[in-house]
Amino acid sequence: MSALKKTRNIALGYITAALSCSAFAVTATPGSLSIAAGASQTVQLADISGTLSVYSSKSGIATVSRVDASHYRISGVKAGSVELEFKDRKSSAKVKVSVTTSTATSTSAPTALNGRLLASNCFQCHGTNGSGGFDKLAGKSASEIYGDLKEFASGQEDSDGIMAAHAMGFSDAQLRSIASYFANIR
Ligand code: HEC
Repeated sequence: MSALKKTRNIALGYITAALSCSAFAVTATPGSLSIAAGASQTVQLADISGTLSVYSSKSGIATVSRVDASHYRISGVKAGSVELEFKDRKSSAKVKVSVTTSTATSTSAPTALNGRLLASNCFQCHGTNGSGGFDKLAGKSASEIYGDLKEFASGQEDSDGIMAAHAMGFSDAQLRSIASYFANIR
């Protein structure tokens, strides 16, 4: 009886040893990820034994930088897919990365250059179509209006006035487009 129990304990001991050994294989979470070019995501590594080296199946798709011992940041460079391998002394873990085209370039809103739409921001004070109000805009030349707007925008004239606040809100191209809109109204 006691001899039998002893062998069973030894057998169990081997099993536990084998299990805990395999539990020390390095793991990476998530095992696969998709990021946009220019974006990045962190991968968590666990059960690392010894030093970790990173291998990439292809260059130029994504970069890997170490955040700390168990976190690595993957940054998308250009569209494509790449397999990263995190290798320690005993084992390795793979992470499949697919990089998609940068969302920043594909969805960036076109700069609004619709003169009338932009100019409608001015109607409440300069009258509909620049016909009156504080200062009549209609009939002035585009360069005159543009020049005034640039002066306001640069803060050279009445830097904390109403017009400075308005002019500063537009891009140079938008100011040109507003100026030419008013200049072409008669
Ligand atoms: C909240 C009211 C307000 C809005 C909106 C506004 N302005 Fe003005 N604007 C003024 C006032 C008041 C003046 C005159 C006082 C000053 O010089 O600051 C002026 C002056 C100007 C002048 C100079 C005119 C001159 O003869 O010296 C220009 C050009 C002008 N505005 C263009 C615009 C344009 C273009 C817009 C739209 C992007 C606009 N303004 C929106 C109130 C406004």
